[in-house]
Amino acid sequence: MRLDKFLCEMKMGSRSQVKAFVRQGLVTVNGTVVKSADIKVNEFTDAICFHGDKIQYRQFVYYMMNKPQGVVSATQDNTAQTVVSLLGNCQREDIFPVGRLDKDTTGLLLLTNDGELAHRMLSPKRHVDKTYRVVAAHPLTEEEIFQLEQGVDIGDDEPAMPAKVEVLDERIVLLTIQEGRFHQVKRMLRAVNNSVLELERVTFGPLRLDANLKPGEYRELTSEEIAQCGNC
Ligand code: URA
Repeated sequence: MRLDKFLCEMKMGSRSQVKAFVRQGLVTVNGTVVKSADIKVNEFTDAICFHGDKIQYRQFVYYMMNKPQGVVSATQDNTAQTVVSLLGNCQREDIFPVGRLDKDTTGLLLLTNDGELAHRMLSPKRHVDKTYRVVAAHPLTEEEIFQLEQGVDIGDDEPAMPAKVEVLDERIVLLTIQEGRFHQVKRMLRAVNNSVLELERVTFGPLRLDANLKPGEYRELTSEEIAQCGNC
């Protein structure tokens, strides 16, 4: 890849900043000062140093985002802002959201360029738990909760798998499901003659939404969180 792209992706600065660093002779490739930021480097085998410190190439990146409302869980969209665009400039081009939240759903979204880990987290065979904080339109009755816990018919070939329901308030529950069907939670609430007013994902497998993240903010996963996701 190009040297300026490498430096940018390794978070050494913006495109223009890293170009300036190169012009100032602060960057070496295999021990030689380079003056041109558009040379090609091999990110795996070349020793690239900034101010004398070797920059370790990281192949994969993992971000936890608190998805805000009004943003689509996609890499590109013709009309709406995407979650990937919230990561800002100088991001790798191969980052994608792991699964989708609806445009009006908020909360925990994982973004990565690690296809294998994403596949594990999303695989229907693995039944990875996802917990949503649901604000319902009407108080949830015991019968409705019982039905959700049994597995409701949401109009697909198979009913939704049994959910776990933890009541927080008469209209607010934590609903844990192990599938990720299209509009699943909304369809489950509709199936019991209720509906969703607000939906926020608070957990995804081993990940728990970081309370320090305001809507639209994100942080890197810790190495422990990455390992836990890998064990899903
Ligand atoms: N279920 C839904 O209905 N919407 C989401 O965004 C996620 C789960």
